[in-house]
Amino acid sequence: MPSRLVCLISAVSLGSCLMNAASAAEVSGPQPFGQTYEGTPVERYTLTGGKVTVRLMNRGATITEVLAPDRAGAPADIVLGFDDVAGYESEANQYFGCTVGRVCNRIAGGKFTLDGRQYQLAVNNEPNHLHGGGKRSFDKVVWQGEKLVTPRGTAVRFSYASPDGEEGYPGNVKATVTYILGDDGALWIEWEAMTDRPTPINLTNHSYFNLAGAGSGTVLDHEVTMYADSYTPVDTNLIPTGKIDPVAGTPLDFTSPKRIGERIEQLTKTPTLGYDHNFVVRKADKLPAAAARVREPKSGRTLTVFTTQPGIQFYTGNFLTGQPGKGGKPYIYRGAFCLETQHFPDSVNQPTFPTVIVKPGEVYKQTCVYVFTAE
Ligand code: GLA
Repeated sequence: MPSRLVCLISAVSLGSCLMNAASAAEVSGPQPFGQTYEGTPVERYTLTGGKVTVRLMNRGATITEVLAPDRAGAPADIVLGFDDVAGYESEANQYFGCTVGRVCNRIAGGKFTLDGRQYQLAVNNEPNHLHGGGKRSFDKVVWQGEKLVTPRGTAVRFSYASPDGEEGYPGNVKATVTYILGDDGALWIEWEAMTDRPTPINLTNHSYFNLAGAGSGTVLDHEVTMYADSYTPVDTNLIPTGKIDPVAGTPLDFTSPKRIGERIEQLTKTPTLGYDHNFVVRKADKLPAAAARVREPKSGRTLTVFTTQPGIQFYTGNFLTGQPGKGGKPYIYRGAFCLETQHFPDSVNQPTFPTVIVKPGEVYKQTCVYVFTAE
């Protein structure tokens, strides 16, 4: 493991308990950012830390901008999104930057059985349920935002109370997602949730990254390393078979840095050809564990991802269609990548996978760290 990553790991692990005595990081807002089609005000917050700026929107507890410097210090917005709420409410939005829940990724047939009762969720991604459903999934509701100063940096915490039966899920769930930006340019995302009845919960952030700048072309030249020796193979509907297979000898072997474009055409089984796979994060002594590292050679920008979750979905924007995003820039096929830390897809129906069921009295707590650097 490169010494640079070892330093990052120790900084991130240390950061999980280090008290930042005098952080120069700042948080501002809320600023008005329009309203939803129902007339609910939408607000934005800005976190600045180190040389990184992150903007957040309370609709969907969404990351709308990440301004990160290249090796010469020049900033670029490296995440896909829109200039207004209407863009986020349009068909062109494919979960850009949002908090996904109650259950991210797919649930086969939208069905699951819990304590002897079968639940039928929306089949909003034929033939499956995807990303928490259609109308009141966590990416579409307006969360309550508040500014915080934490030992690790300045923060914004979004809260949402999801009523029993929302999108077909059991239990009244209170969820929070806290974004913390330190002086080191590390963006910590901390999810917490509690329920009054047993229910599945699997939250993630769905930012689409292009480290050369959002809308600047494909990500095929980005170099990826995944700290994962296995993955969960899926069927043609992207539902896991229940097996956990080694990546060795497959186009999924990113145990050493590889360009995204080097073997992508070999992925003939994935709908619309591309990476859209859940990798099993290598076990580590300390959490959050290093899960992935991406480097864009021209700018030198890198993204390193740490997580407490067992899985990370690596997706290369295979469903992007050239839709105009921020500044009217087209978001083309394979124009971004996602690294969605999470429990495995369809876990609620896969008895051998780590459980996603949360019970009353338990606190669902997961962390992801996106570290933005340049070299
Ligand atoms: C996840 C899924 C993809 C796709 C995107 C949203 O990344 O794995 O198949 O559905 O969400 O477009």
